[in-house]
This record gives sequence, structure tokens and C-alpha cells, in this order.
Amino acid sequence: MRILSGIQPSGILHIGNYFGMIKPAVALQAKGECFYFVANYHALTSLRDPKALRENSRRVALDVLACGLDPERSALFLQSDVPQVAELTWILSTVTPMGLLERAHSYKDKVARGLPASAGLFTYPVLMAADILIYDSDLVPVGKDQKQHLEMTRDIAVKFNETFGSEPHGQIFKLPEPQIQAATETVPGVDGQKMSKSYGNTIDIFGEEKETRKRVMSMVTDSKPVEAPKEAASSTIFQLYSLVATSDETAEMRGRFEKGGTGYGDFKKQLFGKLWEYFEPMRKRREEILKEPGYIDAVLERGALRANEEATKVMKRVRAAVGL
Ligand code: ADP
Ligand code: TRP
Repeated sequence: MRILSGIQPSGILHIGNYFGMIKPAVALQAKGECFYFVANYHALTSLRDPKALRENSRRVALDVLACGLDPERSALFLQSDVPQVAELTWILSTVTPMGLLERAHSYKDKVARGLPASAGLFTYPVLMAADILIYDSDLVPVGKDQKQHLEMTRDIAVKFNETFGSEPHGQIFKLPEPQIQAATETVPGVDGQKMSKSYGNTIDIFGEEKETRKRVMSMVTDSKPVEAPKEAASSTIFQLYSLVATSDETAEMRGRFEKGGTGYGDFKKQLFGKLWEYFEPMRKRREEILKEPGYIDAVLERGALRANEEATKVMKRVRAAVGL
């Protein structure tokens, strides 16, 4: 089984990215051959600062390695190191109906949030389809917000297969399946909304201790007094705690929420403690990687070679099918 996912280097990775995508992606390494990449072409739709793009891209690679991505089992690479994906984007765009792109939520959301309405932002899902189809991917672990993009990828693949998949070439593209973690569909941020780089409500995976504590202590709660019983399920503090604590520890916190007598400040301190402990081994690993100069570049180079090898095979099929 071929597993593939990408993550944009548009900012610093947060625990929503970790539980929504990185953790499942790391776990899938036991299930098949993995291709994971830093989506720097995609990030160009929102980031126009070359220094920041270059630095963030390396940092995303470092952070996912620290989180357990194993370069012996997975190919980790930069999207732009496989430029054939841009060629495939063009070819796919010629069979992609305008109406399909016009229905995309993420384009409308991003423009509403102030991103420039470029042709690149509009055709973003076609590049994403190319990313997935160019490696014959079977399974794509992503957060819930990417579900529509996966449906569009399948629609584009079907359309292409119908148009060009006649004998002797058969079906050109495999149809990929999304894998969306039910338990961590949407990790809430410090304001209770979906945690997102663009909402300023994140808790970063590798933030400084002081800053991380400050972010946790700033979490929005209702104004129930210390004595009052509180509802655990709807509390962001409890939701985040249940991601990092054992089931016994989670049950213990739930009990104290329901009983009353503990203030939100104390729950936040308990959450911070667990959170800091949870990411401790990954912080250690990150320090180790940073001590080895050239390690990240070597991993990315090896990943790019492997990815190009697969992409070349699929592109041969595609070029032959369309008559190039
Ligand atoms: P952001 O919204 O912070 O810009 P991205 O869009 O770059 O994050 O998302 C990268 C990956 O992390 C995607 O697979 C996405 O679905 C997942 N993800 C992002 N935020 C969350 C969240 N709050 N909860 C669960 N998964 C998330
Ligand atoms: N669009 C994805 C995001 O914002 C990143 C991405 C780009 C991706 N290409 C992909 C994810 C291919 C999975 C597969 O999170």
C-alpha cells in the first residue's frame, strides 16, 4: 500500500497539525510505503517571502522528523524537488471542470480571510490532485478540512481515466482513499475555534516553555466559579487534555470537572504539565537532529530521488495516454 500526505510550510506546526495529520501519518509507517512531502508550491499561494518560505520548509522537515517520521521507512521530500508535479497539474487542469473548482470551500474561505484571489489559489486543488495521483497513492491521511480536496482528486482522476483510459493504456490513475481520524477531526485552539496558523490561536508543538505555558493559561473558558460543577466534554481544556493524557488520567480530570471545587486555572496548569511531558521525547529528538549538520538535507535529497523515480513512471503513462 502506498500512503501519501503533504503539509504546507506556511507557518509553524501546531498540535492541531500533530494530532490531525502528523501522528496518524507516523503511525501509518507500519502499514505501507510512505511518501510525505513539504508542500512548498502550495505555500506560494499565501507566502511571498522567499527567506521565510525556505526557512519554514526546512523547519517543517525537521519538526516532522522529530515527531517520528522515519526516513528509513518513508520518503520525505520537498514538493518542488519533483517539478513533474507541475506538468501533471497542467495536464489535469485541462480535464478539470470549472464548476468543480468553483464549488471548493477552501478557495472561498481563504479569499474571505484576505488571501489574494490568484489563479494559483483557485487551481490549488488541481495541484493537490497531481501530488496524490503522481505517486499512485492508495491512502491519504489528512485532517477533516481536506476532505473536499480528496473528493475533488477522485473526481479529476475519474474524469481523466474516462477521457484517456482507453486500451492499450487501461486506467491511468488509481483512486485514492482519504483517512480522516475521527477522534481528532478538529483539534480546538486556545479560543475554542479550530486550531489554525491563520487564526492566531495555536499551541505550537515545539514552542518555548514560557510561551507555551502562557498560551495554555490564556485559553478561553466560561466564567463558572471554582466551586461549581463544570461540563468536561465541551471544555477545550478537557478536550486537549484527553489527547495527551492516559484514559485513567482523563477519567480523573472528568471526575473533578463534574464534582466542582477546582478552578479552570488549576485545570490549565495540569494540561500544560501533561502537554509538556507528552512532547518531551520529541523535543529531545529534535535537539539530536539539530546537532547533526547536513542531516535534514541528506534526508530530503534521498526522499526526492525516491519520489522522482515513482513520478517518472506515472508521467510516462500520462504522457503516452494524452499523446505528448
Ligand atoms: P492550518 O489550518 O494551521 O494552516 P494546514 O491547513 O497547513 O493547517 O493543515 C495541515 C494538516 O493538518 C492538514 O492535514 C490539516 O487537516 C491538519 N490540521 C490542521 N489544523 C487542524 C486541527 N485544528 N485539527 C485537526 N487537524 C488539523
Ligand atoms: N492542502 C494540504 C493542506 O493544506 C496540503 C497538501 C498539499 C496535501 N498536497 C497534498 C495533503 C497532498 C495531502 C495530499 O493541509
